[in-house]
Formats: sequence, structure tokens, C-alpha cells
Amino acid sequence: MSNKLIILSVLALSFACLALAEPTPLQDFCVADTSSSVKVNGAACKNPMQVQAEDFSFSGLHIMGNTSNAVGSKVTPVFATQLPGLNTLGISMVRIDYAPWGQNPPHTHPRATEILTVLEGSLQVGFVTSNPDNRFITKVLQKGDVFVFPVGLVHFQRNVGNGYATAIAALSSQNPGAITIANAVFGANPPISSDILARAFQVDKSVVDELQAKF
Ligand SMILES: *[C@@H]1O[C@H](CO)[C@@H](O)[C@H](O)[C@H]1NC(C)=O
Repeated sequence: MSNKLIILSVLALSFACLALAEPTPLQDFCVADTSSSVKVNGAACKNPMQVQAEDFSFSGLHIMGNTSNAVGSKVTPVFATQLPGLNTLGISMVRIDYAPWGQNPPHTHPRATEILTVLEGSLQVGFVTSNPDNRFITKVLQKGDVFVFPVGLVHFQRNVGNGYATAIAALSSQNPGAITIANAVFGANPPISSDILARAFQVDKSVVDELQAKF
């Protein structure tokens, strides 16, 4: 390879890394200063000399989430908002509880890959590959099984047991973001015109009106 090619490859690789992960920290940590009005990509840093162990800690992940809702699941997040020490570190986690036959409905995380393990119960999980294939990859997981949802792809979990199920997942962002497909499409505020959605989904406008009324 010529020098020019090598430099180009290294540059391409660096950009690929930047695109896939959060920027490498330039200091040991940057505990989020939630009182700061400074807007940066993340949160401003607390004075490192005033940082305490509590800034790196979160309690309560042993507590089951309340799954009495329309979808029958509850996500308890531990993102930088809940654990300020995660700011700039590119990692976070959640606990997910599922009522019997409950689901964590189809959604995507625009900024994170997710790796999930089942602590209790059994879950059907799945994701769909991007266009044009839209291949559906799915599997039933048992306690102790691990599954990865690649960054940005639409995915879900459904409790396929008669008891409660619990999972823990790690995400490759301090603030992964979540776009729940049904809510984003049919519950946009202000609404997306129903004629746009009727044509996009190839259904009658009345079907869209009904869906929009629900979200
Ligand atoms: C769980 O959520 C439901 C619906 O919001 C509510 O009625 C119920 O009181 C909650 N249960 C507990 C234990 O908080």
C-alpha cells in the first residue's frame, strides 16, 4: 500500500470509530453537572475535586418496575440522567420487567447497541435488518441467555411465559435515546397528516385515524 492509501485507511477507520462510539474522554471522568446551563454534547463537568462516590452510583435496580400499562412492561433506566458519573463514558444500563405476555414494543436506540441478558423467565426477542432486505432475526431466550441488538435497528422483546420476566441490558451510550415506532409514527405531536400515513402504510385513512387516536 502507498503511504497515501495507508493514511486514508487510518482516517477512514478513525471516522468509523467516531461514528460507532461516543468520543474518547480526554480526562478520567466528567460527572454531569446538572445545575450548569452550559450546553455541550453531553453535560458540563462537575469540578473533579468535588466529585463524590454517590456521583458514580445508582440504587434501586433490585426493585421491580410497574408493568400495569398498555404494553405490559417497564424499563428502569440508568443513564447519565440517573447516574451523573456516566456522562461522556459511552455506556449505560436498564432493567426491564415484563408482565406475563407483556412486551417491550418495537423501538430503536439511535445512539446505542444493546446487549441483553434474561435474569428470570423467557423472552422472544427480535430485530429487523435495514432496507432493502428487512430480514427478521428472532429467538426465544431463557434465563442466562444473552442477545445483542445492533445500533439503530428496530427491535423488541416479548415475555412468552405465564410468569413475570426480568432482563438487564447494557447500552453503548450514556444517553442511548429510544424511538418507539408506534408512538413516533402515530403519536407524533403535532400529528403527521393521516393521508401521508395512509399512503405510507397502504391502508385506509380511517385505520390511521384510529391508530392516531390511540397514541
Ligand atoms: C402501577 O401503575 C398503575 C397504572 O398507572 C397504578 O394504577 C398502580 O397504582 C401502580 N402500582 C403501584 C404498586 O405503584
